[in-house]
Amino acid sequence: MNIVTDINSWVQFRKSVQNKTIGFIPTMGNLHAGHLSLCRRARGKNDITVVSIFINPYQFDQAEDFKQYQLAQDLTQDQTLLESAGIDVLFLPTAEMLYQDNYEFQIIETAESTILEGAHRPGHFTGVLTIVLKLCNLIMPTRAYFGEKDYQQYLLVKKMVQALFLPIEIIACKTVRDSDGLAYSSRNTRLTLEERKQAALFAEILRSGQNALQVEKILLQLGFAVEYVADCWGRRLAAIKLGNVRLIDNIEIK
Ligand code: PAF
Repeated sequence: MNIVTDINSWVQFRKSVQNKTIGFIPTMGNLHAGHLSLCRRARGKNDITVVSIFINPYQFDQAEDFKQYQLAQDLTQDQTLLESAGIDVLFLPTAEMLYQDNYEFQIIETAESTILEGAHRPGHFTGVLTIVLKLCNLIMPTRAYFGEKDYQQYLLVKKMVQALFLPIEIIACKTVRDSDGLAYSSRNTRLTLEERKQAALFAEILRSGQNALQVEKILLQLGFAVEYVADCWGRRLAAIKLGNVRLIDNIEIK
């Protein structure tokens, strides 16, 4: 695996693979089975697979959440996982490289980004869309891969790519779940043993076939701090808090 840590080296490499298809997976590291399933999808369809790891400061509405992401970062472990997943290039940019404009340029979506996650995490999607656009402009991928667990993020990225005429195919990949049904997330490792057991109930109740109101009621009865349970875009989406850890999930509804 080629590890690229500066923009000039990436630009040189990109020029050398002009006729190849590139599959791109942007991540914030702390990789898990969900990320690895995106890697497999990308590898199966593209000549070259590129993964970026960058903890984007501007998409965090809570300083503590950003800090926890930084604390959990284990580049050696991520590198080992990506090498065994057969990734060709790991791109590791820094904030100084990516934000030479000091975040003075931002991508603001004014409709779907204002509800659900957007309503609960002010500025989050502006941060996400801005970094995804920057990374896509650098990587120039044929296809970029996003997990359905962050469904609203996937939709907004897809919408941005269409609105700005970017020649990139956005691929949605199914949520990968642990054996007890909990969707893989970098935040799961922050749960205590007790909270981790309870978190499985979140996934179970969300998928129990009851309507959104009933799901919310049961989650509240079980002691979850519920931010929302809502039906939108043919999905049932939910966000809860267990202790200090915020978890999201969604399922397709018929
Ligand atoms: O889903 C994520 O990990 C992040 O939001 C992303 C897409 C890498 C942008 O920082």
